[in-house]
Amino acid sequence: MSEPIIVGKVEDIPEGEAEVVDSEDAGTEDDIAVFHAEDGNFYALDDTCTHETAPLSDGWIEGTEVECPVHSAKFCLKSGEALCLPATVAARTHKVEVVDGEVLLYPAAG
Ligand code: FES
Repeated sequence: MSEPIIVGKVEDIPEGEAEVVDSEDAGTEDDIAVFHAEDGNFYALDDTCTHETAPLSDGWIEGTEVECPVHSAKFCLKSGEALCLPATVAARTHKVEVVDGEVLLYPAAG
């Protein structure tokens, strides 16, 4: 597996907030939003909503779901699944790990 990207320290990303990793840094097509969910865990999805072009990192986190700030589609942070209309396509997920208090992102290849 490729080297992880250090997103930041756990305490720097409060629960209910998201940090964006630029696509250039991630080596991916889209920016990646790393969410600190209300279950205390971190999850990462492509930042762009699959419905149109809103950044999911600006959305609202509730439990382990994020609501798009533009048309209110909801996505599961664990699976990326689109949970309600108008989005019908899942968001791409990326692996996140916490090691020694640091949040590490492993951008999905391709
Ligand atoms: S842009 Fe996200 S639901 Fe429309």
